[in-house]
Amino acid sequence: ARRPRVFSGIQPTADSFHLGNYLGAVRNWVAMQETSDAFYCVVDLHAITAGHDPAVLRNRTRLSVAQLLAVGLDPERCTLFVQSHVPEHAQLAWVLSCITGFGEAGRMVQFKDKSAKQGSDSASVGLFTYPILQAADILLYQADAVPVGEDQRQHLELTRDLAQRFNSRFGQTFTVPSVHIVKDTAKITDLQEPTVKMSKSASSPNGIIELLEDPARSAKKIKSAVTDTGREILYDEENKPGVSNLLTMYAALTARTIDELLEEYDGKGYGDLKKDLAEVVVDFVTPIQERTRAYLDDPGHLDKLLAIGADKARAVATATLDKAYRRVGF
Ligand code: ADP
Ligand code: NA
Repeated sequence: ARRPRVFSGIQPTADSFHLGNYLGAVRNWVAMQETSDAFYCVVDLHAITAGHDPAVLRNRTRLSVAQLLAVGLDPERCTLFVQSHVPEHAQLAWVLSCITGFGEAGRMVQFKDKSAKQGSDSASVGLFTYPILQAADILLYQADAVPVGEDQRQHLELTRDLAQRFNSRFGQTFTVPSVHIVKDTAKITDLQEPTVKMSKSASSPNGIIELLEDPARSAKKIKSAVTDTGREILYDEENKPGVSNLLTMYAALTARTIDELLEEYDGKGYGDLKKDLAEVVVDFVTPIQERTRAYLDDPGHLDKLLAIGADKARAVATATLDKAYRRVGF
């Protein structure tokens, strides 16, 4: 049987992925290479919707690709490419924008949140139409499923609506993707504010573990993570969010389960847990950093891998766009 086609994208909006990105998303990408016909995209078109610096963006795109390869994406087993290398994304987005209602787009909660932060007058039209570009990303590849977090559900529903609308108005063209809400991935929280998710927009740089930061710095951050009152090591997200987060990271990065860790740390203190987790994190990021550096130190090789990825992606994308263009009368 044909493997299900999946599409997933990640924005190059930071120099380094953080542990939340890895444990919550990218690690699953690596696993899906084995079970799916996976298309993975560094979505640089999306990254210019909220203001950016060109040289920084270019560098972050390469850093993102190098990190994805370093954590285990294998260009032989998936299609890894950069969105701007495949012009069909923007071309299909235009067509889809013409079948999207203005009010429908205006109901997207993420735009409301992000534009409220920026001040609605300074938010770009690109930020407003971002979910339409996202729909194009997915539909171009005829993806059967899109693995996303709960926060992306509304955008995925729009994608499905647009696919169905296009198909019924112009004839069968797009696979209507199923929403695959990834539930079993770890939700990692901020080390300094353990009730909010670890995010690049963290209020303190000490709240996030970056894959590419000095491992000694990561160790220090873990040792100074906010823990909870009491001394017992328990898994209790409500009352002990700090300790629970450390346990979640620890279990996710090792072969141990949380229950095994609870047994192992029974009678021990927060300090012991932090010291050991710091070591686990250092051992995890060190080889990733070495591999990332190796990819970055050989730009010709990286370019070649990206050219191969773009060719594989375009083979599918051009076929879909041609069909969609013919359907609409071009
Ligand atoms: P950020 O919140 O740092 O801006 P993004 O929104 O760019 O991260 O998320 C990129 C991917 O990483 C998404 O799939 C998202 O669900 C996942 N992700 C981000 N932060 C976390 C976290 N703290 N725990 C689990 N997954 C996360
Ligand atoms: Na584990």
